Amino acid sequence: MDQASSLRQKVQESGEASNARVIAVTSGKGGVGKTSLSVNLAMEMAALGKKVVIFDADFGLANVEVMLGIRPTHNLLDLIHNNKTMPEIITKGPMGIGFISGGSGVSELASLDKNSIKLLITEMVKLDKMYDVVIIDTGAGITDSVMEFVMVSPEVLLVVTPEPTSITDAYSLLKVLRRKDDFNPLYKSIKVVSNRITEDDEGEEIFGKINTVSSKFLNTKLEYLGSVPQDKSASLAIIEQKPVVSAYPNCQATKAIKELAAKLLDNEQEEYKKKDGIAKVFLDFIKFRKRSR
Ligand SMILES: Nc1ncnc2c1ncn2[C@@H]1O[C@H](COP(=O)(O)OP(=O)(O)OP(=O)(O)O)[C@@H](O)[C@H]1O
Ligand SMILES: [Mg+2]
Repeated sequence: MDQASSLRQKVQESGEASNARVIAVTSGKGGVGKTSLSVNLAMEMAALGKKVVIFDADFGLANVEVMLGIRPTHNLLDLIHNNKTMPEIITKGPMGIGFISGGSGVSELASLDKNSIKLLITEMVKLDKMYDVVIIDTGAGITDSVMEFVMVSPEVLLVVTPEPTSITDAYSLLKVLRRKDDFNPLYKSIKVVSNRITEDDEGEEIFGKINTVSSKFLNTKLEYLGSVPQDKSASLAIIEQKPVVSAYPNCQATKAIKELAAKLLDNEQEEYKKKDGIAKVFLDFIKFRKRSR
């Protein structure tokens, strides 16, 4: 058995039932609210009884650690270079949310040797056992590593705002995805979240635009998860380095995010079939990284 298939078997043997649900949060244009949504959805899913960890693959300025007001001491590469174990590199945030910093690790994943990959995947299998949900904050733009995380995650939240460039960039992202040989629309669930809307129907309108183009030209059907209104409390919370759902529990943005989280967990039955787990997602990610080098 070659290395890849023996690892794959290991991942499968780890048991589908205990695999984490993996959700990649992405967008075409940057700055549309991916990190805020990742953090606040994690908080609300935790409030609904789920064990949630956020993997930060985003090197933007307002990243997860800033938003949660925590300072991680380790990152992904410590698993490989510093003999750390998965539990040791996870920083604990509010509501028991775990946080893993990708550090520069994400770009290095393509150059790992076989033993390092084996070590990494063995630790990732632990993550599947420890958590119910893994949220990957992919960072901005249609870069290779963002696209690869989108490719390999069974579930994707595509964040858009009413800005025209956000909508066209979301469409571009889908187009790039569609062109990839390994993209299988049947296997993937892409859910659109409209953020910063200012009128009631605006969220669905935005979704309608993207979905029409996407189903006509890309043969990819999207789902509409819902919307979050433009809300001053959301930007105040960022300045205060607190998740809006805890800093402003009664504001409009919080109400909307609670609904999104509940809807995501409502889907659990259907999503279950797609639960490949985070170890498998990372194994696929490394495969794509190596191939695109
Ligand atoms: N619903 C909202 N209402 C008001 N402001 C919002 C809302 N959502 C996000 N913002 C604002 O948008 C800014 C960008 O949000 P965030 O950092 O989450 O975006 P991002 O997509 O992760 O950005 P990047 O692409 O740089 O990683 C935040 O600083 C916040 O002030
Ligand atoms: Mg971000």
